Amino acid sequence: MANRIRLGVNVDHVATVRNARGGIHPDPVRAALMAADAGADGITAHLREDRRHISDDDIARLRTQLHVPLNLEMAATPEMLEIALRHRPHAVCLVPEKRAEKTTEGGLDVAGQHINLTPFVRELIGAGIRVSMFIEADPRQLDASRSAGAPVVELHTGRYCEAAPGPERIKYLDRLKTAAAHAANIGLECHAGHGLGYDTVGDVAAISNLAELNIGHFLVGEAIFVGFPAAIGRMRALMDAARATH
Ligand code: PXP
Repeated sequence: MANRIRLGVNVDHVATVRNARGGIHPDPVRAALMAADAGADGITAHLREDRRHISDDDIARLRTQLHVPLNLEMAATPEMLEIALRHRPHAVCLVPEKRAEKTTEGGLDVAGQHINLTPFVRELIGAGIRVSMFIEADPRQLDASRSAGAPVVELHTGRYCEAAPGPERIKYLDRLKTAAAHAANIGLECHAGHGLGYDTVGDVAAISNLAELNIGHFLVGEAIFVGFPAAIGRMRALMDAARATH
């Protein structure tokens, strides 16, 4: 398919379920291998400072067992930088992290933290790792990401997904479209993710300037009812259908 959009499957919440009881079941690495077989173009995992879901051992095993690219989400801290440089995943997505948050709330303030973030980007890129910045759909943050040296941005789709269907959701969709076009204009590869499900993925996948979507929580939840491969297969089909009609 021309201009096919990639699907990165986030396996964090397989680890959430595992960690609810301790032990080794269900294994996010097994889920990642299954996701790759079901058509995921890559696997995303967020190693949080508090290790509430993905563990250091999960990252080590993902790195050795996966045959598709691994996208490591992490905060820009010295500890995480050391881990990324040791494992050298295909990609790192720099995200903001607050201990008390349920999930990644809002994007990284690259414009405000430019001085702190630029050295992280430089070190990661120097190690051959593709770096993306997880940001709100705001031209200032896109420009700052470019000037910090990141070749990729990931637009936070949380506000769009949480908005009630109708004018409010359309407003956030328009912001995503404008930001994706701006990314293309300034030479950045543009991804998107957070909160996407069957109902919200189509309009986002239809944005032709987007190269990749990262989706986790919805797919892991839906897997309870239909299985992980079927949930991923339906998401993939919705993304492809949206691209085919635009
Ligand atoms: N992209 C980024 C940068 C994220 O932090 C997350 C959540 O970990 C996702 C995508 C996936 O979001 P969700 O699990 O809501 O699909």
